[in-house]
Amino acid sequence: MTASGYDAAYATWKSNPEAWWADAARAVHWDAAPQRIFDPAAGPYGRWFPDAALNLAYNCLDRHIAAGRGGQTALIWDSPLAGAQARFTYTALRDRVARVAGALSGLGVTRGDRVVIYLPMVPEAVISMLACARIGAIHSVVFGGFAAPELAARIEDAKPKVIIAASCGIEPGRIVPYKPLLDAALARSTHQPSQCLILQREAGPAALTAGRDLDFAAAEAASSAVAPVSVAATDPLYILYTSGTTGKPKGIVRDGGGYAVALLQSMRLIYGLKPGDVFWTASDVGWVVGHSYIVYAPLLAGCTTILYEGKPVGTPDAGAFWRVCAAHRPRVLFTAPTALRAIRQQDPEAALLRHHDIGALEALFLAGERCDPPTAIWAREKLGVPVIDHWWQTETGWPITAGFRGLGLFPAKPGTGGRPAPGWDLQVLDEHGTPTGQGATGNLAIRLPLPPGAAPTLWQDEAGFHRSYLSDFPGWYRSGDAGMIDADGDVSVMGRTDDIINVAGHRLSTGAMEEVLAAHPDIAECAVIGAADALKGQVPLGLFVLKSGVVRPADEIATELVALVRARIGPVAAFRDARAVARLPKTRSGKILRASIRRIADGEACPIPPTIEDPATLEDVARALGKPMLPPQ
Ligand code: COA
Ligand code: AMP
Repeated sequence: MTASGYDAAYATWKSNPEAWWADAARAVHWDAAPQRIFDPAAGPYGRWFPDAALNLAYNCLDRHIAAGRGGQTALIWDSPLAGAQARFTYTALRDRVARVAGALSGLGVTRGDRVVIYLPMVPEAVISMLACARIGAIHSVVFGGFAAPELAARIEDAKPKVIIAASCGIEPGRIVPYKPLLDAALARSTHQPSQCLILQREAGPAALTAGRDLDFAAAEAASSAVAPVSVAATDPLYILYTSGTTGKPKGIVRDGGGYAVALLQSMRLIYGLKPGDVFWTASDVGWVVGHSYIVYAPLLAGCTTILYEGKPVGTPDAGAFWRVCAAHRPRVLFTAPTALRAIRQQDPEAALLRHHDIGALEALFLAGERCDPPTAIWAREKLGVPVIDHWWQTETGWPITAGFRGLGLFPAKPGTGGRPAPGWDLQVLDEHGTPTGQGATGNLAIRLPLPPGAAPTLWQDEAGFHRSYLSDFPGWYRSGDAGMIDADGDVSVMGRTDDIINVAGHRLSTGAMEEVLAAHPDIAECAVIGAADALKGQVPLGLFVLKSGVVRPADEIATELVALVRARIGPVAAFRDARAVARLPKTRSGKILRASIRRIADGEACPIPPTIEDPATLEDVARALGKPMLPPQ
């Protein structure tokens, strides 16, 4: 491992962050180049490139066409679920984006207006995002696995002028009708868009609501192309809602200027890619990984990006990823560890690899959840390429820690997430906010300011940004993750310090699930924890106490609770297990001992907490879960 290139880059950034970012900003096409790099007085912790102007869609598309790359493939859509594939050159993609931007303009959408995008992994998702960027509108993409109330909460908060939705999504073995979900969400929402553009999919067309819904394809065909609008670098490019600690999702804001600068730099330093390279991020446009590394970063960098509407297994088998690698020849693949676990479970020897030539692949990047070392080692052995785990969040927009292909640093230790990228002053803090030094586990925190590309604030909730991230440790951003930095400077991310869990790489709030359970009329109290799962990393597990006098069988109520979480939060919550207990384990002051419940669920030794009100409640939990109460070693 060579650390010198990395060490030099990190030291250069640290010695003069503004000079570092001013230099990185030269890779962007600005309409007004930044004269000032950072304004420490603006926003919760300052704003990057406060006087600059640009257009993200221009930077993603038109600028490459102007540079002679119009005939290069920008986007490859590969959908085993729809049984279809398509390729778009930069020119073809730009032309569609410009026309859809024209359609949105025709509906009165202008700079600063919000557009909610509720589309599956189809080219129109990318096109719609870039169309918004082209006219300075703010997109907010909602993941298809959420239920109507989650969609409604996002509509209520973002107040979109227009919603772009599909008639349906396609999951293995079933069609997911999106239009009824949209209708149900709008029935719950006090805010109403002036119009909805509905993309009719062959797999399941929808009846349009007269006066409100327009056919996406017809609107696109009837409109004419519009030119990109120059917007401030600090204008929001998008809002992406993510799980917080309550049922109300947090509206993470991303501004365009800093994002373009940071993403372009990450493509070079972290992923080691250049214009013309093929990059495949197997995630979903509904998540930050999809925003940053399916859509914006590869197109900003002039690469070819792959949009895969399929699964790692079952579409049709555990060789699906290798087929895509052989067909489209990405140099870098980025996915979640869960996807590899799913493949490994079905094809432990990777026998299906033999049918596909994946020779173009040079590296595999992982993120979204902690990667267990056996999975990382398996992938490295079977694929014969470096496996690079890197850690980041919706809030940060791009990796905090990583390996750096562009700097010749490939972390070799499975289980670690690499080293901090230039831009992030990452430290481990104890509960008083004091840096712990090497080797100790604590709160992973970043010294302010956050770098370009990170969220400058929450949508119309600056106080919430302070409360959620800045108030616990003044001068620091609290990531919400616990971790450790070892003697080499490699960072291990252990898990969340709050009630967020990671289910198959999807970020979910157990607090939000508890709110759903608690709303059931027969439930007195409840707790939801994330239990370890061999495939998904974690799965939610609910414990509930029935109100006195409830005589219906607990199993029947458990089934209702599972259905309720699916209906309120969505299938993506993967909430399938709820068990009744007589009482929940609590401290004498009434706090539910969730960590003890998790230990029992995971089959770990469970010390009796000194503050527990009644130790017998832990035995009750163990009985309900069918687990032994293991004493501490
Ligand atoms: N639209 C509608 N429903 C969706 C959906 C979407 N976009 N994505 C998932 N769902 C549904 C699934 O169909 C499933 O429904 P079911 O309960 O009726 O079976 C449910 O949500 C749970 O999905 P998931 O947790 O993904 O489990 P799974 O068993 O269907 O698949 C994996 C397991 C490992 C194959 C899958 O989770 C996977 O591909 N994970 C990778 C995740 C990833 O890339 N994350 C990105 C973060 S970087
Ligand atoms: P999201 O905002 O959905 O991207 O989820 C971010 C959270 O996922 C982080 O706060 C971590 O808890 C977890 N996470 C993401 N990447 C990693 C990683 N490489 N290692 C460990 N945890 C990760």
